[in-house]
Formats: sequence, structure tokens, C-alpha cells
Amino acid sequence: MRAVGTVHRDYKISTIDPRLYGSFVEHLGRAVYSGIYEPDHPTADENGMRQDVIDLVRELDVPVVRYPGGNFVSAYNWEDGIGPKEDRPVRLDLAWHTSESNQVGIHEFADWAKAANTEMMLAVNLGSRGLDEARAFLEYVNHPGGSYWSDLRRKNGREEPWNVKLWCLGNEMDGPWQIGQKTAEEYGRVAFETAKAMRAFDKSIELVVCGSSSPKMPTYPAWEATVLDYTYDSVDYISLHMYFENHAGDTAAYLAQNARLDDYIETIASVIKVTKAKKRSKKDVYISFDEWNVWYHSNEADRKVLEGRDGWPHAPELLEDIYNFEDVLQVGCILNTFIRRADVVKVGCLAQLVNVIAPIMTVPGGPAWRQTTYYPYLFASRYGRGTSYQLSIDSPSYATDFAEKVPYLDVSAVESDTDGALTLFIVNRHQTDAITLDVALEGFGDRKVIMDKVIAGHELKAVNGPEKQPVAPADGSGLTVEEGRLKGEIAPLSYRMIRLG
Ligand code: AHR
Repeated sequence: MRAVGTVHRDYKISTIDPRLYGSFVEHLGRAVYSGIYEPDHPTADENGMRQDVIDLVRELDVPVVRYPGGNFVSAYNWEDGIGPKEDRPVRLDLAWHTSESNQVGIHEFADWAKAANTEMMLAVNLGSRGLDEARAFLEYVNHPGGSYWSDLRRKNGREEPWNVKLWCLGNEMDGPWQIGQKTAEEYGRVAFETAKAMRAFDKSIELVVCGSSSPKMPTYPAWEATVLDYTYDSVDYISLHMYFENHAGDTAAYLAQNARLDDYIETIASVIKVTKAKKRSKKDVYISFDEWNVWYHSNEADRKVLEGRDGWPHAPELLEDIYNFEDVLQVGCILNTFIRRADVVKVGCLAQLVNVIAPIMTVPGGPAWRQTTYYPYLFASRYGRGTSYQLSIDSPSYATDFAEKVPYLDVSAVESDTDGALTLFIVNRHQTDAITLDVALEGFGDRKVIMDKVIAGHELKAVNGPEKQPVAPADGSGLTVEEGRLKGEIAPLSYRMIRLG
């Protein structure tokens, strides 16, 4: 089997916003407590943050982390997490039916973000609360001083404002599970008024309005049309969320699901365009895909935890998906889709970062370790920044229930804005056959292979764990550039990253 094509330097898709490779930390399960924060851990720093986790986050080079939720934010009082720790109240978290100790709040998270070399993306509570809480939180976080909330921050030990740029106007407000769920009309009005108040404080912040929680929502995509009708000129991004699963155990259909993702993005990009025309607006609104990941391995375990208990545990093991090799391929395909749609998707958050559907896992008191999906995320984050290029590749394809032509080879291409290397991210979804790749590199000058990484040859259900991480990248070989063409074999069921310098 052969896949023949071209990547041409004149055919750019878009500059990639580095925030496409963001992530997410929610007060959920063990993401915060015994995830990023564990004061008794041997590697804990002076703030109680696990240095081993910080090191892994730094290795991933995560540009932005969304916080504090998620469903959690819709019944959260951010003021509970400020001031002396011993005075902070324990609250019942209605989203996940747990106890929240509030030992980590905005100060601790901001310090962690700095140590982890990442920016904060903050969400305000538009579920149980609203505009007033949002403006107070913004003033606390971003105002230099001389006002009630900013002086309280200074009193609490932080002199300088954090100047957070990116703010989410609530979370998944279309979902019946959300505390304070709203209709699109109700939410559109609240989001508009909240955006107005927040912009009255600072015009330069960027605002994300809630889109659909999933393309399966009954209100999709009318939700986006209504919400944008209210907010188009007041916001910068509309959020989309999507999770992927393989309950059916159908690898071919599972690995084709980025066709659905593509359709989702395309549909909302169209809603954005129509709204822009309707409003006669000059500004653009983009997509913040601020929750995406594989999420299904832990469904059964979570059901047992959530249904079988009568108490309100603190930081129980929730959403602890253990990822396998098949998920490496899936995450690789999803990231390829985002790179190819970098013209409209500007922000992306892998949900989540630590312990909760996460690439990084921790053992309380023990090691932090890399899940299988850590690696495609690592490679995209480190080498997928710059300019995204169109690829025209004629690959053999297959059909599924929802897509007629799914190319076996899923490929994206990025020219780095730092070292100029051209990087191809390649997934071969064929389950038995290698595919011979032959891509003409037009306008990129003389290139040779400078890095070749491959994840292949594992059982689809192979996983990593705290003791052993067998699913990890190896050095690839056999791909070469000959007379301006990249040629070589791509193994069946493989993830490959090839850099040409
Ligand atoms: O990421 C886990 C949960 O998924 C988030 O809290 C919520 O926004 C979504 O439903």
C-alpha cells in the first residue's frame, strides 16, 4: 500500500496559537489533592506542590492550564480558597459529591503555574453564582491595588496582580448535570452581561463563552447560534468539548472518530461565520476546544464509587483512566485534527493533566509516572508550534458507519517558528499493513531527517503503570529524504513523528 502526496510551502493553513496545546486541572478526584499538591510527599516544595509532577508538566511544555473546573466551578466559591489555610472552610462539592478542603485556591494554583512554567486560564462560576462573583474574582486576580478585592489579595500575600488573560464564562452550561444549567437564551443573556462587566474592568482580557458539551447534545448546534447571537461582539472564543470512547471494542471505528471531530469543528466554524455576517461584525470569534480526551476506561469504576457511597470523600479516585497503546493512536489523530484546523481552533485543553483522565499519574507518597498518551501530547506540544501546512496525500482509506472515506494515514505538518524544522505527525490506522509514504516537499529547500520517533509494535491494550512504562517512544529508522521526497514505510498501527531540518 502506498500513500503519495505533497506538502507545499505556499499552502499554509495558519499560524498555530501555542495555546492549542493547553491542559486542565479541576478540583476533581485526585487532580489537585495528591496530584499536584501533596505536602507530605518527599518531593514537595515549600508550597506543598509535588516537584516530580512539576518536572513532568515542564517537560510537556504546557502553555496554559484551565482552572478550577469543569463542573466543579459551577458551585464553587473562589473566596473559600483565599486567606490563612487553617481558616478555610470545608465545602461539599455538588458536582462530584466530594468534600473540598480548599487547601488549594487561587494563590496556591498561581504559584504552581509559575513553577510549572505555564499560564492560567480561569473559569468564573455562572452556575450557582454570576456577574458579581465574576467581577470580584477578576478584580482580585488582575487589579494592581487600591480597591477592596485587590487589596485583599495583597493582604493575603500577593502584591502584584497575576494579569490572567484568558477567562471562561462558566462551564458546560447546556448540560443537565451542571449546577445552574441554563437554556441557551438564559445563558446567552448572562454571558453577555458578565462579559460586559468584565470588559468594563479590562478590555484586553480574552473571553470564552460556552458552546456545546458534546456534539451529541440535543441542543447542538442551535445552542451555539443562540449564544453567539447574544455574545458575538463581546467574546473571543466559543468553547467546545468532546470525549472519545471505545466501549464497542471496534478499533477501526474508534480510530476514525476524528472525522466526527472535524465535522464538529466545521459546523461551529460555520455558525461563527453566519453569526459574523448577521451581525455585520468586523471581528472574528475562534474556537477554544477546552476539554478533549479519551474518557471511558474508568466509567465502570466511577459508577461504583459514585453510586455506592453515602459520604462525601475528600479526593477519591475518580476518572482515573489507564490509557493503552490504542489511545496513543487516538490522541495522535485528535492532535492532527487540531493542527489541521489551527485556522479556527486557537486554544485546546487536554482534559485533564494529572490523575483525572490524564497523561500524568501519581502514587500518593510514591512516584509520578507517564501514561501512554503522554507521548503524542509531548511531541505535539514541543514540536507542533509554528505554521500548519496543508497536505495533499492520496492514502488508501476505509469506511465506517459515520464516515465514508477514512484515510489509513492521518497526517499533519508544522514548520517550527523556532528552528525552522518541518515536522510531520503520522498515524497509520491500518491494523495489519505497513504503508509506503512518498511525500514531495515543495519549497522547503534541502531537508534531511533530524529526528524520528515512533511508538509501535505494542498490543493495542498494552498500558503503562507506576513500575513499568513499556509504551514509550523509540527511535525510528528507514524514513529518508531523496531528491526532495520523504519516503519510507509507516508500520501498521503506529504513531510517528518525523522532523526534517
Ligand atoms: O473533565 C471532566 C468533566 O467533563 C468536566 O468537569 C466537565 O466540564 C466535563 O463534563
